[in-house]
Amino acid sequence: MNPKIKIKPKITVVEDIEDLAGKSLEMFFDYAKKAIKNEGVFRFAVSGGYTPRRFYEMLGESSMSKKFDWSKAHIFWVDERYVDIESDQNNYKMANETFLKKINIPEDNIHRIPTRDPNFETSARQYENTIRNVFSVEPCQLPVFDLVVLGMGSDGHTGSLFPDSYAALDTENLVCVVYCMNDKLNRITLTSPVISAAEHIMVLVSGEEKASVLKAVLNSKSDDVRYPIHFLWPVLNKVAWIVDKAAAKNI
Ligand code: 6PG
Repeated sequence: MNPKIKIKPKITVVEDIEDLAGKSLEMFFDYAKKAIKNEGVFRFAVSGGYTPRRFYEMLGESSMSKKFDWSKAHIFWVDERYVDIESDQNNYKMANETFLKKINIPEDNIHRIPTRDPNFETSARQYENTIRNVFSVEPCQLPVFDLVVLGMGSDGHTGSLFPDSYAALDTENLVCVVYCMNDKLNRITLTSPVISAAEHIMVLVSGEEKASVLKAVLNSKSDDVRYPIHFLWPVLNKVAWIVDKAAAKNI
């Protein structure tokens, strides 16, 4: 473990992706109910990727979800690939198909990342303005999401904050554009200060292919350039890691 870390990461190891989804669902509604009790509203941001898919399906189907007052929830996205909402690569589309269209959430409470304007910066600023309006935050103030749901890539990225990228170092904006060489899709992402400011953060990690990076991330010296997810280290006390056995095999 990183010797500088005084707090041990809070890691829940579960059997498989089904249990990971079940645990995520349980925690999601704990945070949601707490936020509604305290503030009358629950504002959360979700990621894309393979790992949260089953959790999102459960959000669409579970009895907890059916009983929940979705009119008090506002959904945002951590990041988005710059593709049309009809594309299977679009994170909004995944959330929409798995749960949004099955629950009773008002259309006005769905704040997806725009991807239509040919100018990526215009879309990024538009999304940033949406966040500022919904949270009523002034310039130089950070919004505080009640919950941010993250994944982690095999290279230690989270959101669209990739190793060696400018975006991973952006501490000026709430939202930034990511010019991405890997899959040739540009992206828009929340920046690390916004994610870190959240009240609660869940990191979902699944599969054997994540085992070595999870071990490395948890054991190496904090280095946000190599492993962008390390930006969470100063706020580790509010991060809940939910990891399946396959990903946890080396820790
Ligand atoms: C995305 C993400 C990204 C993802 C990780 C893990 O939209 O792809 O926000 O950061 O969470 O790449 O993805 P998997 O769950 O597919 O491994």
